[in-house]
Amino acid sequence: MISDPGATAPLDYGPRGTVHVFADAEALAVAAAETFVRVTGDAIAARDGAAVALSGGSTPRRMGELLAEAPFRDRVAWDRLEVFWGDERWVLETSPESNAGVARRTFLDRVPIPPDQIHPMPTVGLEADEAAAAYAETLRTLLGGTNGMPRFDLILLGMGDDGHTASLFPGTAAIRERTALVVAHHVPKLGALRLTMTPAVLNAGREVVFLVSGAAKAERLAEVLEGPERPDELPAQVVRPAEGRLTWLVDRDAAARLSLVTE
Ligand code: 6PG
Repeated sequence: MISDPGATAPLDYGPRGTVHVFADAEALAVAAAETFVRVTGDAIAARDGAAVALSGGSTPRRMGELLAEAPFRDRVAWDRLEVFWGDERWVLETSPESNAGVARRTFLDRVPIPPDQIHPMPTVGLEADEAAAAYAETLRTLLGGTNGMPRFDLILLGMGDDGHTASLFPGTAAIRERTALVVAHHVPKLGALRLTMTPAVLNAGREVVFLVSGAAKAERLAEVLEGPERPDELPAQVVRPAEGRLTWLVDRDAAARLSLVTE
């Protein structure tokens, strides 16, 4: 249940997910923090622990700041969480570009989560391919369960204005990867190396939640949710959890081009 007075009635996009529209970025961040509390709390109640994959980018930062303060900080059983990342830039954690570095500085350093329960993607001391393989092994070991497929309780994702998600960028082979759980690849558009979970892991998530904010995303969000299926150009379309729930928490600016938005 998303509890926010600013939310409209959920927009049902069937297998493409359920969209909740919030008045602005702050209301979106509050809803994201509420979702984080709810989903992790339910997982801990059911399985005595919660595995969360964080996304990078700027949208989740305000959610992180909220989670590091009362009342949200006191509503999470931090000692029962295992925190991972859906993707990472090939930089040191000290870099302002580092997804793990930003999350630590934004909120993980300010909450009582045991340090050995924070699992950043390795970006030092290994070649990128080795780092991807090592992280995949970490996922299998800690979350692999019976069939070796890591099942996250919560996967947070963002969407770029080109329709990418995690580090699955348009035109990259990682979109179609069917075997590896994590890949390292050079992203031509960025001229940079990225590590990313592959669709199989994202689609094994129990709750997969996109956070999308801002007018710059509006056209692409409408294409992703309402347009033809073309995941090679719109990688966010590849996220289709097999058994899990797919939710989009968006603000009004990002939802501006959705035909189902009435007001
Ligand atoms: C990353 C993210 C990426 C991000 C989108 C949206 O490493 O950059 O994982 O997928 O979620 O690019 O980023 P913003 O939230 O900054 O718009």
